[in-house]
Amino acid sequence: MNPELAVTELAEPYLRGLLTSAGLDVEYVRGEGNTLYRLDAKGQETPVLDYAGGYGSLIFGHNNPEIVARARELVDGGVPVHAQFSFHPYANRLAAELNRIIHRELGTDEPYYATFANSGAEAVEAAVKHAELDRVLRVSETLEELAAGVERARTAVDDGSATVPDAVYAQLATERPADDPLAPVIDEITRRNGERAAQAPVFLALEGGFHGKLMGSVQLTHNEAYRAPFAALGVRARFVPRGRPEALDEVLAQERGVLLGLTVEDGEVRVVEREHPVFCAFLLEPIQGEGGIQVLSDEDARIIQEFADATDCPLIIDEIQSGLGRTGTLLASSQTGLRGDYYTLAKSLGGGLAKASVMLVRQTRYRAQFELVHSSTFAKDAFSCYLALKVLEMLERDGGRAYRQATERGAALQATLEKVRTAFPDVAKDVRGRGLMLGFEFHDQSEAEHPAIREAAAGGLFGYVIAGHLLNRHSIRTFPTASAVNTLRFEPSVLLTDEEIGRLEEALTDVCVILREQAGERLVLS
Ligand code: F0G
Repeated sequence: MNPELAVTELAEPYLRGLLTSAGLDVEYVRGEGNTLYRLDAKGQETPVLDYAGGYGSLIFGHNNPEIVARARELVDGGVPVHAQFSFHPYANRLAAELNRIIHRELGTDEPYYATFANSGAEAVEAAVKHAELDRVLRVSETLEELAAGVERARTAVDDGSATVPDAVYAQLATERPADDPLAPVIDEITRRNGERAAQAPVFLALEGGFHGKLMGSVQLTHNEAYRAPFAALGVRARFVPRGRPEALDEVLAQERGVLLGLTVEDGEVRVVEREHPVFCAFLLEPIQGEGGIQVLSDEDARIIQEFADATDCPLIIDEIQSGLGRTGTLLASSQTGLRGDYYTLAKSLGGGLAKASVMLVRQTRYRAQFELVHSSTFAKDAFSCYLALKVLEMLERDGGRAYRQATERGAALQATLEKVRTAFPDVAKDVRGRGLMLGFEFHDQSEAEHPAIREAAAGGLFGYVIAGHLLNRHSIRTFPTASAVNTLRFEPSVLLTDEEIGRLEEALTDVCVILREQAGERLVLS
């Protein structure tokens, strides 16, 4: 083997460089609960308290013993992991269990059909694809219905039982011809319908939202750096600002349109209008994760729900980060009264061992044909379905003890973050979130006195430098996100102890003191 090759970084070398500059280029060799282990200079394992929690994919922690035991049992028992195009009762059980819990939380008994996938972005794309299939079918059903009306008008005019009044020509900006009175009317309706139906669908998403980085999903993700270079590859989304609901009225006024048809009433032909289903879907996170832990307000939720109901725009509620118990319920959105046409779940669904995601669509929107046009080699595999069933069992057991733990542990962590913020209002700007999905935002430091702090802030690296210090000085792992560089995210497991919360308090206090005293030289970055 070429010895050079052994050390040259070929797996995303640029990223490795970035990690190095913030002191975050650490290899973890073992994980257990909320702890990851790195090797020190002597090759000894050193524990690191993990508040990043696999970007929120570890609701029961790293290598939870019960989940690991189940995984072992499956592998030792020779479970056929990949048996595509066969009967999958375990997938059906998982879908049924998800339904049972969702029905309880939403107070409904309408079935949600499940399409399995492998990653969060993939589940989002499955939902969007399904919504578009449904929209296209709704457009063609409306056009067919309108064509039947036109046919009836044609028969009535031909057999003399109906006439075409002047108002119809005026409405369509055409003229009454000398011969066939319906010909220009039908031509104009057909032309306008053709034009309208060919319009690209409109996607709505919230500013600050994150729904993945694949070709389709990245266009629904707000961060321009992720989205803009690939604009030509995907769909066009309109981003709606949070807290400015009147923006939805503007969107509606600009985008809505009608499909036209004819009817016969009292011996006269009339033009009828049907709403053109132009909105493919409205995507939102009940709590934005990558966007810096932004909780959707009850007021915004109500307005979005009303808009979706009034315009027949399907709601895709992305619970990939907020779901699976993290905020005390399977669906964080069930606490805000939102009712999704679609839900996406991923991250913790695989129990921290499998890669699994699911897209759920309510029966009233469901199109069975979707099953024939969407699939993946790896989706719906036995290993991930059984582990997801295990995760649900662990969430639900003892009357939902894990949900209560998430709420209670989250509240304890939030109270501590709040305590630090209150002690350092000059440094700490905000504490946000719910349950075990929390954010701690610092004030902007781009005008800071200390050059190291100021330059880090100016370069958009402030949060990463703080993360580096937390890791190297305090053995605590957490990060900001690319979309919210001044906000640290905390997404530990339900196993979080008071001692672990105490360690974070101490570490954050140290960071706040450094910032207050502008003692950038005390930041430990390697
Ligand atoms: N939707 C949400 C709400 C997410 O938080 C993520 C990922 C995705 C979709 C995409 O999932 O990575 O499995 O394809 N969020 C990570 C984060 C990357 O940093 O919050 P994926």
